Amino acid sequence: MAKARTQFVCQNCGTAHSRWVGKCEGCGEWNTVVEEDPMGGIGSGPGKVPKKGRPVALTALSGEIEEAPRIHTGIGELDRATGGGFVRGSAVLIGGDPGIGKSTLLMQAAAALSRRGHRIIYVSGEEAVAQVRLRAQRLQAAETDVLLAAETNVEDILATVGEGKRPDLVIIDSIQTLWSDTAEAAPGTVTQVRTGVQAMIRFAKQTGAAMVLVGHVTKEGQIAGPRVVEHMVDAVLYFEGDRGHHYRILRTVKNRFGPTDEIGVFEMSDKGLREVSNPSELFLGERNAKSPGAAVFAGMEGTRPVLVEVQALVAPTSLGTPRRAVVGWDSARLSMILAVLEAHCGVRLGQHDVYLNVAGGYRITEPAADLAVASALVSSLAGLALPADCVYFGEVSLSGAIRPVAHTAQRLKEAEKLGFSQAVLPAGSADLPKGNGGRWSEIDSLPDLVARIAG
Ligand code: TYD
Ligand code: MG
Repeated sequence: MAKARTQFVCQNCGTAHSRWVGKCEGCGEWNTVVEEDPMGGIGSGPGKVPKKGRPVALTALSGEIEEAPRIHTGIGELDRATGGGFVRGSAVLIGGDPGIGKSTLLMQAAAALSRRGHRIIYVSGEEAVAQVRLRAQRLQAAETDVLLAAETNVEDILATVGEGKRPDLVIIDSIQTLWSDTAEAAPGTVTQVRTGVQAMIRFAKQTGAAMVLVGHVTKEGQIAGPRVVEHMVDAVLYFEGDRGHHYRILRTVKNRFGPTDEIGVFEMSDKGLREVSNPSELFLGERNAKSPGAAVFAGMEGTRPVLVEVQALVAPTSLGTPRRAVVGWDSARLSMILAVLEAHCGVRLGQHDVYLNVAGGYRITEPAADLAVASALVSSLAGLALPADCVYFGEVSLSGAIRPVAHTAQRLKEAEKLGFSQAVLPAGSADLPKGNGGRWSEIDSLPDLVARIAG
């Protein structure tokens, strides 16, 4: 019998090495490589007998399946983020920091689905059944037919959910607690998580149940054993938010059955998560329009416009190296804007500390925010407040040119809806509505912007 060779697996990216190394060759992380038994790897259950498959003609399927069969939760923001509900036979990973509200969201989803007549099994590996029930009571979900189980062993879970129950949806909370008899690695290792997730995906595919997997994110913002799991599942959603704020955002980062740029917005209350169907109102709620350094960005999240305030503070530094601090935006992008302001507009910030904050703890990912950021910075430096009823959007290039961005009409429509009557936007924007009466200022370079604000 061939001797099983141990292998060394990176706990961050799953790369296997033949010997122990300090730095993973796959992802470059240090001290993440752990010895594991390869027999515990992929699909190596004992006594597996090869089985002949039955190929199906592609044409035989047409007409039968028009679109992925979905299970709508009726929670609009959740359905929006998943692209219209959970897909039968698929697996979704919901990641997020501990305590952000993943279990709360899924218990509410389970209750909503159960009320719609679906069979739901909630498997908790982190909390006892009594604890889960207590939460369900708080969420007014206790009087539903959701089935609860407290299991961590993969084989036990499969026996529990398989046994004639024919669930429509199974929730595994969380994948980090999964362990399988077939994998000999320690619980919590990549091998265990991968083996467990694989078994759950197989169950979903075989039974047509939708599988929802909960995963905790590590400090670096990745799900433990992240890449392996993200590749295995059909969709990955991140539940994020700032502990200091009440709202939470469900962001789609991968979706085989729908768009990947949608977000769902919720607000955490004492009775669980509440949907926020107009996020702009929420993000602008904390606004302080009269002070210098605040600019409202008209952004887009997927198909939905979102207005949010960008706040900048530029102040003379007392340090040798001035400080640059950013919350809610990319710090490399801020450095770029500062460099362009200096090179093309003569705005010198080498002796100034720069702080940038996106109001409400929201995180902007769009380059279209460049113009709003630049406006906030110039406004703060000049000590002049921007017009309170004006929105900004546009991408800044290294040459100082302002580039048009997509969805101009939609951004302006949302701005008007919320009472903004002016906009500063890139010249040559494609779908700019006609006849604006001069309220929309088209600019084509950053020096133009600086002249407008400080000139
Ligand atoms: P939880 O869903 O347990 O987080 P996760 O599963 O992501 O670790 O949420 C925990 C937090 O949510 C906790 O700090 C308490 C808060 N919370 C409320 O504010 N209201 C509620 O109704 C519930 C159930 C939780
Ligand atoms: Mg939890």
